[in-house]
Amino acid sequence: TYVVTDNCIRCKYMDCVEVCPVDCFYEGENMLVINPSECIDCGVCEPECPAEAILPDTESGLEQWLELNAKYSAEWPNLTTKKDAPEDADAMRGEEGKLEKYFS
Ligand code: SF4
Ligand code: F3S
Repeated sequence: TYVVTDNCIRCKYMDCVEVCPVDCFYEGENMLVINPSECIDCGVCEPECPAEAILPDTESGLEQWLELNAKYSAEWPNLTTKKDAPEDADAMRGEEGKLEKYFS
């Protein structure tokens, strides 16, 4: 599966939802997550994210993110259509440690 990671928080560009063939993105206030049991591992979303927030879970150190994606995709609503990104999305790009600072 692919997972959404820290870089998405408060960037939330949502280009990813437009390309996913199985519509497995779910929307929280500050980020999106992927439902790992619905993702078919096609990889199409990864290069579409301007914030480089989407990674394959085969990369090391992503256990925390896989858990977070699994947990919140079960709670948050499905999102299939791109909306406007936050106004300060570009300013938030690449900031470190967004999970601790902004995720609630
Ligand atoms: Fe959707 Fe493919 Fe991305 Fe999985 S890898 S979330 S199926 S676009
Ligand atoms: Fe987030 Fe990138 Fe999608 S910033 S909303 S994972 S396009």
